[in-house]
Amino acid sequence: MSKKLYIKTYGCQMNVYDSTRMGDVLAPFGYVEADSPEGADMVILNTCHIREKAAEKMYSDLGRLRIEKNAQAEQGKRMLIAVAGCVAQAEGEEIIHRMPYVDMVVGPQSYHTLPDLIAETERTHASLTRLEFVEEQKFDLLPESLQTQGATAFVSIQEGCDKFCTFCVVPYTRGAEFSRPVEAILREARTHVSQGAVELTLLGQNVNAYHGRDAAGNEVGLAQLLTMLAEIPGLTRLRYTTSHPRDVDAALIRAHGEIDILMPYLHLPVQSGSDRVLKAMNRKHTAADYIGIIEQLRAARPEIAFSSDFIVGFPGETDADFEDTLKLVETVGFASAYVFKYSPRPGTPAADKAGQVEESVKDARMRTLMDYLDRQKLRFNQSKIGTVQPVLMERKGKKPGQGIGKTPYMQSVVLENAVHYDQQLIDVRITEAYGQSLKGEVVGAASTEAAPVQEALFSSADARP
Ligand code: SAH
Ligand code: SF4
Ligand code: F3S
Repeated sequence: MSKKLYIKTYGCQMNVYDSTRMGDVLAPFGYVEADSPEGADMVILNTCHIREKAAEKMYSDLGRLRIEKNAQAEQGKRMLIAVAGCVAQAEGEEIIHRMPYVDMVVGPQSYHTLPDLIAETERTHASLTRLEFVEEQKFDLLPESLQTQGATAFVSIQEGCDKFCTFCVVPYTRGAEFSRPVEAILREARTHVSQGAVELTLLGQNVNAYHGRDAAGNEVGLAQLLTMLAEIPGLTRLRYTTSHPRDVDAALIRAHGEIDILMPYLHLPVQSGSDRVLKAMNRKHTAADYIGIIEQLRAARPEIAFSSDFIVGFPGETDADFEDTLKLVETVGFASAYVFKYSPRPGTPAADKAGQVEESVKDARMRTLMDYLDRQKLRFNQSKIGTVQPVLMERKGKKPGQGIGKTPYMQSVVLENAVHYDQQLIDVRITEAYGQSLKGEVVGAASTEAAPVQEALFSSADARP
């Protein structure tokens, strides 16, 4: 008999990937994924701890789930609630103390234990926690990915972080850096491509620190791994995220010039343009280092565009520091970016620093920086008007017949009467550009990238991002 599983995912791509893997772990036990918690046998909240807001969101969702759980209990059913992800790792037992109706708390390294945990709590009705960092890597313990959903697929190649930026919880919630072996990555990538994926995104908290081993035991860096993956027949787009400026080496810069299916778009978080702040953040690079990397990448691949992350209001950030950030933005010119207000995280060094910045100052800096970056983004989008872009069609639009796809630069393109192009790569002439999307008309099958042979309907792409 099939059981209903609802997974809610917060936070980064890594969590999105992990959620699919949890679905894979539970599928052999009869769990079928649903898109709402109503009537679910099990709910997993795959949580994020990066900023205070993200963690708060989980607690308010738990409150709502309790109502559903109670309603089911009145009918003699037991809905299991599991808290997974980075809040689980960071807060552990505390979650069960605060919310005793949570049945299990399971950290990112322990998802392979879910079937055992379910069996145990069904037997004992006790709340359980699994938070250890296992010796054996979780990727070896999880089953191979079962299903490819649509034309784009994600492959996790690296996890954890040893950088210890002073604001960040990731080294604590995800543990030390670990790179998956090359063979396992190639196998998973080939499976996705054989099941219809034409775009692969390699994931890792620090993806360009990748240093896995090949079958012969030799160390392989990200550049070499990308070269190997690019040889998979049928693969037409490669991406990787998220990178650290410190780990952009000469080989990786060369790879951007040499591998044509490596998309000319890179998310490279800089956080700040002030050397003083960067030092206090323990980023171990200066603003000039960052700009130097951007210049080298542009020399290797002239059409490359960049996105980034910024933190405003880091402890001690002055108006002059913030000006330096604006200067860096002016110098680089970003196609897209995220701006976050510094959020003190328990247990991280910056949380206890003197010079915490007032909320009103953070708000003002955030608005100024976002306005500036939004204008850059609009200009970048407008620069594509009149050009022909290969667009990978991913999902339905709001209006009947509309389809939405992505350019190499991750811009969303809305096309009318385009449902039949779902999951295909097509050439589109861009006609209009806005802050968040482009419009265009179909020119034909993409010429610059091989067109996928796939007739899937939109439903499969809707299931997952
Ligand atoms: N590994 C990546 C990204 C990690 S988290 C990297 O090294 O860049 C994603 C983004 O969240 C970060 O780039 C940073 O901008 C933001 N972030 C992390 N901790 C934060 C905090 N305490 N407050 C506000 N933003 C934070
Ligand atoms: Fe966090 Fe810094 Fe590691 Fe990125 S590099 S995950 S920001 S500690
Ligand atoms: Fe959040 Fe953990 Fe990712 S804290 S950003 S879910 S690594």
